[in-house]
Amino acid sequence: MKKHSSKSKMSVRPAKKTLSKKHVGLKSDSQSRDVSALILQDHKPIKELILILKDAKGSIAKKQPAFAEFERLLSSHAKAEEESLYIHLKQVDHLRPEGLEGDTEHAIADRLMREVNESKGDDDLWMAKVKVLAELVDHHVKEEETEILKSYRRTSLLKSALKLANSTRSC
Ligand SMILES: [Fe+2]
Ligand SMILES: [Fe+2]
Repeated sequence: MKKHSSKSKMSVRPAKKTLSKKHVGLKSDSQSRDVSALILQDHKPIKELILILKDAKGSIAKKQPAFAEFERLLSSHAKAEEESLYIHLKQVDHLRPEGLEGDTEHAIADRLMREVNESKGDDDLWMAKVKVLAELVDHHVKEEETEILKSYRRTSLLKSALKLANSTRSC
């Protein structure tokens, strides 16, 4: 996803701790707990911005800086998430479809963000694209929080339990 360096005056700030490459290739339960916690933390400011972008009564003057901040946060979050969560899901047979769906939704969001930028100058079109983007990401984030992270944690827990069982057996 494209990164933007422009600073916004929005009050929403990214969480201090965010996902990073050091979490790539997670295997243990405690590591998966860390990744889940960081993802949920990253989602907080993104969800606040979604509310602004989805607001049917919101003005374009309010939505433009919100979109700039949203694009910046979502771009870095999605990249880290792909490298720390989806890469792992795609390696597990029964979680692969969820990983691929997540990747696809990230790609659609990325394309829509580009289209939003390209539609500057036509306020109605800009507002329409922003609304669809916000609804898509809203649905995506809810799915991650209610389904994907739970599946991921369950698999990591199982892995940890199997590892523990194997090490106990070999003692
Ligand atoms: Fe995501
Ligand atoms: Fe996410």
